[in-house]
Amino acid sequence: MMYGILFVVIGLACLLLVQNIKKQRQNQLQYIQEAPSPLSADQIRLIQESWQRILPIKEQAAELFYARLFELDPSVKKLFKGKLDYQGDKLMTTLDVVVNSLDNLGEVEAMLQAMGKRHIIYGVEVAHFETVGAALLSALEQGLGEYFTEEVKEAWAIAYGLIADTMKQAAYSS
Ligand code: HEM
Repeated sequence: MMYGILFVVIGLACLLLVQNIKKQRQNQLQYIQEAPSPLSADQIRLIQESWQRILPIKEQAAELFYARLFELDPSVKKLFKGKLDYQGDKLMTTLDVVVNSLDNLGEVEAMLQAMGKRHIIYGVEVAHFETVGAALLSALEQGLGEYFTEEVKEAWAIAYGLIADTMKQAAYSS
């Protein structure tokens, strides 16, 4: 009888513990999903508006990007095995998806993490991300001309940092 009561009490305690852990995890998840974006609403608007100016010239923008990238670091050229125009198209499509999800980056987090992991296979190293960021800003500057204001530049730099950090964390930490 005594053992029976003890068994029920332990069982109840375990149930409460499990429920508590579940609740805590739910709260954490909710926090991550609701975490405020480091980009302000204005910065998101600046990025999305400037991107609309890039889309009609996306092939040229991709060419400018690779030209600047290989100028900044000629050694990365050997990592690109496929056709550059095809690769450029994939880059632009991915950026388009991310730009359209800036209000809720959680939507594209898993995609960026998987992409970050694939980049290890391509031979990409952490330090390359800085060069790629510089090449991207340079291509945007040339593509946007007078519309590449200081505010636009800053907003893009933050957005690129967020994208790169998500990819790098998934690929190189642990
Ligand atoms: C924000 C950062 C980046 C984005 C959005 C991006 C985007 C992409 C995309 C969409 C692909 C197509 C294949 C796939 O989805 O896995 C790709 C491939 C590739 N990326 Fe990136 N990338 C980024 C950073 C970098 C960096 C830092 C490097 C270093 C040089 C790099 C080098 C490559 C290479 C070598 C490939 C494979 C190309 C080939 O097979 O010819 N990427 N990237």
